[in-house]
Amino acid sequence: MQVLGIDIGGSGIKGAPVDIENGDMLAERYRIPTPQPAKPKPVARTITEIARFFDWQGPIGCGFPAPVQRGITRTAANVHDRWIGMNAEALFSKATGCPVKVINDADAAGLAEMAFGVGRGWKGVVLLVTIGTGLGTSLFTDGVLLPNTELGHIEIEGKDAELLASGAARKRGNLSWKKWGKQLDRYLNRLEQLVWPDLIILGGGVSKKHEKFAPYLTVQAEIVPAQTLNEAGIIGAALAGVAG
Ligand code: BGC
Repeated sequence: MQVLGIDIGGSGIKGAPVDIENGDMLAERYRIPTPQPAKPKPVARTITEIARFFDWQGPIGCGFPAPVQRGITRTAANVHDRWIGMNAEALFSKATGCPVKVINDADAAGLAEMAFGVGRGWKGVVLLVTIGTGLGTSLFTDGVLLPNTELGHIEIEGKDAELLASGAARKRGNLSWKKWGKQLDRYLNRLEQLVWPDLIILGGGVSKKHEKFAPYLTVQAEIVPAQTLNEAGIIGAALAGVAG
């Protein structure tokens, strides 16, 4: 079965048709810069443009950078405030004329990694942390997702962890891999004390540079970079497109 997977990010909106049996992307991903400001209507138009590009008429799954409950986006850390309380599923379904499911972007990446990446076959507690503009988390126990965990916003020394350990924090502060790696380590140690994962998967853009900061990570859990890397968001969104 094929589903169009779309990953809505702070800087780009990317999509590709995915074979959800094996996680293969069936075409090169198509990317459109996220409209600024990223309000609901222009984002819905961009989703429609991506669906049209692939001449799409089937189910669509979207990953969105906020907690999503039954299609409703709940917060807006890195998007426009108009998304708070918005029924994104209804909005996108109407705009595209296709059935659309929307889930949190980190949960989408987690689903992809558990189904087709390094999390495959893992029992116990697996935590995926996506490191990009925001800091997203996805938590599984025996392969079952606990959605919308939002552990990227725990407080560390009175500050939102996202300001310390996200990819944007590294770029903003122009931090060396060592300095940022140690900040990430502080964050991961706090997370470890809270949820005691057996495995931590690090995803998002920086996972490609894993070897640069891995030496500074001291947590007890096994730590591995995501295998589906930048594609995880699209593949996992597609998986969510047919769920429930
Ligand atoms: C949001 C999360 C999201 C993460 C990654 C955070 O700021 O609160 O919902 O998963 O960024 O995009």
